Amino acid sequence: FVPKRLAGQQVLITAGPTFEALDPVRGLTNHSSGKMGFAIAAAARAAGAQVTLVAGPVHLPTPRGVRRINVQSARDMLAAVQGAADAASVFIAAAAVADWRPAEFAAQKIKKDGSGQVPGLTFVENPDILATIAASDRARSGQLYCVGFAAESDNLLAHASAKRLRKNVPLLVGNIGPATFGQDDNTLLLIDDQGSSALPRASKTALGHALVAEIARRLPSVGGQ
Ligand code: C5P
Repeated sequence: FVPKRLAGQQVLITAGPTFEALDPVRGLTNHSSGKMGFAIAAAARAAGAQVTLVAGPVHLPTPRGVRRINVQSARDMLAAVQGAADAASVFIAAAAVADWRPAEFAAQKIKKDGSGQVPGLTFVENPDILATIAASDRARSGQLYCVGFAAESDNLLAHASAKRLRKNVPLLVGNIGPATFGQDDNTLLLIDDQGSSALPRASKTALGHALVAEIARRLPSVGGQ
């Protein structure tokens, strides 16, 4: 029985958006609801795994039995993930991490000065959490199985396949179709070194279970299970 492979294993998941502060009251974020990542966390827990969920700012209850670490920025998320990755055997990056953050954080609220001048914002690139973890010794030696997500507006298979190779992960999961942010349903395309296959449209809860089973099936077998 495949999901048993996850029993007692540590599964680390990122979910939701990040929030990149500009000043004490403003910042850059996106519409990720976190629902897919939270559903995966609940499914991994149900499969017997010990689950750590690193969550950006979302309005979702913590799935029962899951250890949750709340973070704001991409750099906070990376630090939390790095703190938990050594004990994990699966890492699933479902978060919609901001690609950029404001180059500077203004300690005081940026004010209008009445002159009509607008602030000139500059951005710097955020660390790529998935690529960083996938490049670690444990991932490269097969002790940590890494799974990435891709949300593309067009040509999903080509873009997601390229992303799988670029991030150097064994499994890349594409969201098929129009924006899934906030929706309860989703359709997933799984891409690995064997090719691609779809998980047909279903609730994110059902897809969480299906995806966890697909991941368990791909893990190197432990103790002959
Ligand atoms: O490059 P892109 O953002 O499209 O890649 C999406 C995948 O990479 C997702 O699995 C996402 O969680 C992960 N990612 C990350 N850190 C970033 C950007 C993306 O972990 N800074």
